[in-house]
Amino acid sequence: MCGIVGIIGRKAVAGHLVDALKRLEYRGYDSAGVATLEKGTLTRRRAEGKLRALEAKLEREPLSGQIGIGHTRWATHGRPTERNAHPHATEKVAVVHNGIIENFRELREKLGKNGAKFGSETDTEVVAHLVTDEMKKGKSPIDAVAATLKQLRGAFALAFIFAGEEDLMIGARKGSPLAVGYGSGEMYLGSDAIALAPFTDLIAYLEDGDWAIVTHAGVEIRDVNGHKVERPIIKSSASSQMVDKGNHKHFMAKEIHEQPEVVGHTLAHYIDMTTERVQLPIDLPFDWKNIKRLSISACGTAFYAGLVAKYWFERFSHLPVEIDIASEFRYREAPLFAGDLAIFISQSGETADTLASLRYAKENKQHVLSVVNVPMSTIARESDVVAPTLAGPEIGVASTKAFTCQLAVLCCLAVAAGRSRGVLSDQDEQNLVRALIETPRHMAAALSLEPQIEALARTLTNCHDVLYLGRGTSYPVALEGALKLKEISYIHAEGYAAGELKHGPIALIDETMPVVVIAPYDKSPRREGVFEKTVSNMQEVAARGGRIILITDPKGAREATVESTLVLTLPDMATTVTPLVYAIPVQLLAYHTAVALNTDVDQPRNLAKSVTVE
Ligand code: F6R
Repeated sequence: MCGIVGIIGRKAVAGHLVDALKRLEYRGYDSAGVATLEKGTLTRRRAEGKLRALEAKLEREPLSGQIGIGHTRWATHGRPTERNAHPHATEKVAVVHNGIIENFRELREKLGKNGAKFGSETDTEVVAHLVTDEMKKGKSPIDAVAATLKQLRGAFALAFIFAGEEDLMIGARKGSPLAVGYGSGEMYLGSDAIALAPFTDLIAYLEDGDWAIVTHAGVEIRDVNGHKVERPIIKSSASSQMVDKGNHKHFMAKEIHEQPEVVGHTLAHYIDMTTERVQLPIDLPFDWKNIKRLSISACGTAFYAGLVAKYWFERFSHLPVEIDIASEFRYREAPLFAGDLAIFISQSGETADTLASLRYAKENKQHVLSVVNVPMSTIARESDVVAPTLAGPEIGVASTKAFTCQLAVLCCLAVAAGRSRGVLSDQDEQNLVRALIETPRHMAAALSLEPQIEALARTLTNCHDVLYLGRGTSYPVALEGALKLKEISYIHAEGYAAGELKHGPIALIDETMPVVVIAPYDKSPRREGVFEKTVSNMQEVAARGGRIILITDPKGAREATVESTLVLTLPDMATTVTPLVYAIPVQLLAYHTAVALNTDVDQPRNLAKSVTVE
């Protein structure tokens, strides 16, 4: 993930910017840079590779400006070269950016026609040109940024400084995090409190859509509509540790909210944003064309990620997929044929059952690919090849961001398999990749339903059982929703394929049993009529007095007019990416139910983050 810092200081800031960037190194990066104002002129130093390269450059060519922005870049659009490193600048503005500007291609084309000259392949540079264009029309820097933000689509955080403006820095947040730090006579912007810890522990976190006008004297924060807003200033504990909760009450809440950013970051690792193709960052020791069968095993939430992947692999690559809970896989004596592929999914990389299955697969001459979040874990070390999820440390025991990052990686792998096996055309691949690129923005929209979900959660606190239903890839999301609820709120919950309702669970339905139905309107031609079948299941629930919570999209909300239904409406999106986005409301529902019940959300009873016994 890219890291952002900004300082309006009283002495030269370049050294401090680099110190702050060092604290963001844990996020991963491949180039870095700073920009300051030297006698009113925007001046940059950038370097490929680690921060020591930037430090060496600053030693050779020092900067003395007292206002500046800095950045560690994890390459998304364009290779990790000095030319693509941030800050990006024109003669009027310099900008650093974290996240993805989805519509950068159209913007770049439009700006190019108006004569803009681009020095990089990045999406970020269009932001600098848009602001410059607005300023050339006579707008002030603040108005130019306001006009620019309206034109950008995606999930991102930005920080700007301007030529000739020694007392102005602007930060903006939409999807990716950004914090304001309060010093005495100095002010800061940072991706998180950890970056700002050497300077201040007084932090205000921007909310989604906020932008901040920062001067030596303080900050004015405006919301997405341009209205002045106050955000609480909190005392951060980041100085003593490298992971903190930000302004959230629990790690789980922080991790739920990080998803647009970490999923964007993970996708950027697997996708070439410029060509809109999947580009795996790993060398596979096998050819997808030679694989006859794929076995997936994992435990708990990671198993549900695998279950979604089964649908993707089968649909995109026509590979037969077997999926098992890891503790079953190795004992069920499944015949495995040498040279096939086994995928293991694990956040911790230490889960004993998953590891035992991996060893069993190796003994049976499978190619072993693992999708893990902890790079030096045992599962990672014992695999032939590792596809990393870049979720960052997950502290809450209940898995959230690791799940959606696993989905992001598995979807890219399925697309790569589909392309290599000749099932997906170039156009199919591009459509899927475009849908993936839009996911962080849809996730941010899903997070904005939180107040509604919080109110809904309070009505679940006196329930004894909750049923979750879904079809297709929404079925594993239903399973995951039920698991989240039971593990942190201790309310009994079950996930079912909606079609199974009549084969048993319908006996449980009465007016005390809420039924959460996860049902985006499925547009894929081969699944025509599936949504209507789910609506029939809802009718069956309503007829027995059951209370329905429907999570769907605008079309689904219009079509499913079943009585006693409360609807949570998510944006319209490609069916493929719905599991990544629909995971968010079910996580939030479990989280707020648990908070209302006052349970130990981050460390629920009897559970461990890393299950190292079989
Ligand atoms: C549920 C949860 C667990 C884990 C499972 C596997 O919220 O966290 O079900 O998913 O214990 O753990 P990893 O992914 O570390 O192998």
